[in-house]
Amino acid sequence: INLSVSSTGGNITTPIAYGLMHEDINNSGDGGIYAELIANRAFQGSEKFPSNLDHWTPLDDNSKLTLRKLADNQALSSALPYSVNVVSSSSSSGSSNKNKKDKKVGIVNDGYWGIDVRPQRYTGSFWVKGGYKGEYEVSLRSKITGEIFGKTKIKGDKKEGWREKEFEIWPEKKAANTNNTFVVSWDAEGVKDKEKGLDLNLISLFPPTWKGRKNGLRVDLMKALEGLHGTFLRFPGGNMLEGNTLDTFWKWNETIGPLKDRPGMAGVWEYQQTLGLGLIEYMLWAEDLNLEPIVGVYAGLALDGNFVAESDMGWVVQYALDEIEFLTGDAKTTPWGKVRAELGYPKPWKVKYVEIGNEDWLAGRPAGFESYKKYRFPILKEAFNKKYPDIQIIASPSVFDGMEIPKGAAGDYHPYLTPDEFVTKFDRFDALTRDNLTLIGEASSVHPNGGIGWDGSLMPFPWWAGSVAEAIFLISAERNGDKIIGATYAPGLRNMNRWQWSMTQIQHAADPGLTTLSTSYHVWALLAKHIIRRTLPVTAPPGAPNFNPLYYVAGASEKGTRIFKASVYNSTEPVPVSLQFEGVPKGAKASLTVLTGPSDQYAYNDPFTRVNVVKEDTKVVRAGEKGTFTFSLPALSVAVLETEDR
Ligand code: AHR
Repeated sequence: INLSVSSTGGNITTPIAYGLMHEDINNSGDGGIYAELIANRAFQGSEKFPSNLDHWTPLDDNSKLTLRKLADNQALSSALPYSVNVVSSSSSSGSSNKNKKDKKVGIVNDGYWGIDVRPQRYTGSFWVKGGYKGEYEVSLRSKITGEIFGKTKIKGDKKEGWREKEFEIWPEKKAANTNNTFVVSWDAEGVKDKEKGLDLNLISLFPPTWKGRKNGLRVDLMKALEGLHGTFLRFPGGNMLEGNTLDTFWKWNETIGPLKDRPGMAGVWEYQQTLGLGLIEYMLWAEDLNLEPIVGVYAGLALDGNFVAESDMGWVVQYALDEIEFLTGDAKTTPWGKVRAELGYPKPWKVKYVEIGNEDWLAGRPAGFESYKKYRFPILKEAFNKKYPDIQIIASPSVFDGMEIPKGAAGDYHPYLTPDEFVTKFDRFDALTRDNLTLIGEASSVHPNGGIGWDGSLMPFPWWAGSVAEAIFLISAERNGDKIIGATYAPGLRNMNRWQWSMTQIQHAADPGLTTLSTSYHVWALLAKHIIRRTLPVTAPPGAPNFNPLYYVAGASEKGTRIFKASVYNSTEPVPVSLQFEGVPKGAKASLTVLTGPSDQYAYNDPFTRVNVVKEDTKVVRAGEKGTFTFSLPALSVAVLETEDR
């Protein structure tokens, strides 16, 4: 295929072509990127997931653990009414063990499917109620052998009410595996009121976090995300934003401030959420990876299909405006800006993109969608346009979902498709205009070609042919980079021990050594590494095939280097390419990176075999006559060529 790329023409493209999307699905927040190591640290519960003692066990037979809901004036906070009460069975009334002395009692937590222990600083804290005159001991231990890798003593005191005990643990050695526990123990004899014992709550332990943030994010996973070269972060959902019912959506104001004031929420993905990863933590995540935040605000639709009546929209609007004021408002002159400053963040953040709801075309359709079109979106949009005229408002459905996008707004498109569906609609964005800008806020290949679609299961993991098809889809978006705000894969993270959606870019576990970058990770990372800021027209000679089997886009980077991205699909043979860049001299250097997969198109990256099935080959190529590069691209491949000079 002979292609020539013009040096002029084309369009200026979006500044945020690739990004990340995060909601707490697949234990990707709690038990994932949020670095907290203690599972069920505050016994948070909801109607759907009642409070319990999951993940906690007694230190030994002498420790008796009871989950207790305390009265408001006795509880650690109104947000965290439950705590664990621990008495020594040798001192509780009716015990036949009354003579036992100097018995240790304590509680043991087994973490989110294990705890990674290595010689580094762990910082932790717990809240305790009840007088104790001895020393507490906190330790990290092997669950199998009981070996103690690190421990610290903390002074007790005779006070009665709740107080926080902080500590650090530096294990002396790395544990052989992550089958480890965290233990808080004390001497039952030192407890002032032995009948009552001690109450504990909000028991927390963090390893070092990304940029050393308190209540921060896992270093290895942030590093992996950094490798995706994203430029935006869409959060907090996804379905998570909507909640299962009208009462249980993601309430931003309950995700800010001290952890003891965060009640958590009934997650929509089959587990209770701590909401330790809250609004501020998301903004810090964006800041620390240099990402533009795309903040999803609640729009009055629940996953059960119920939606807020038009006459009640007042509070929904105010709630959403307050959220953005909390993030962006002046610390002195706005009420919510002041609250933010009091929490330690006087400097307002910048928010350029706000999305109104999530997939409002889907839950409760058709009535839910009708209500969105008729009043939920227009009312919220108008309020935002008035108060924040510079913010780009994004509707949660797109033109592809039957939403008419009003001038000045954008839509959000979530294609979860088969590989063939991604490829055959390569031209789907060509008809867009700049009046209907589109965000691709979620996307991935989910079903195999020829399968039974949503009536069947998702594929077990991203597979090579699916990832190649995503590349072709992304190329189709890049060709329209003046109308596409940006694209992100979803869901991006998945805990290998419990997940609801199999698709992911990064699979993780407690053991960082088990982190697996999927085939899609490699594809998206390569495309996002080479950013086209101006598309350039490409011409093929008359009679040349119109894309199939080679799909491509060309353009120039910010600094003017030329970029060509291409992918081969539907071909059993390699495709020879002759690519001429107007204005590029003979002998000019370029790097050519080609990703290829195995002959089995269903092959995927497996955490247990540690084999990455994606082969990445980068070489320097030189332009021949008239700035022409010649190379051949194998079947099912993804390639990027970027010239060295302008
Ligand atoms: O990414 C998983 C889910 O898919 C999201 O929560 C939702 O927006 C979409 O339907």
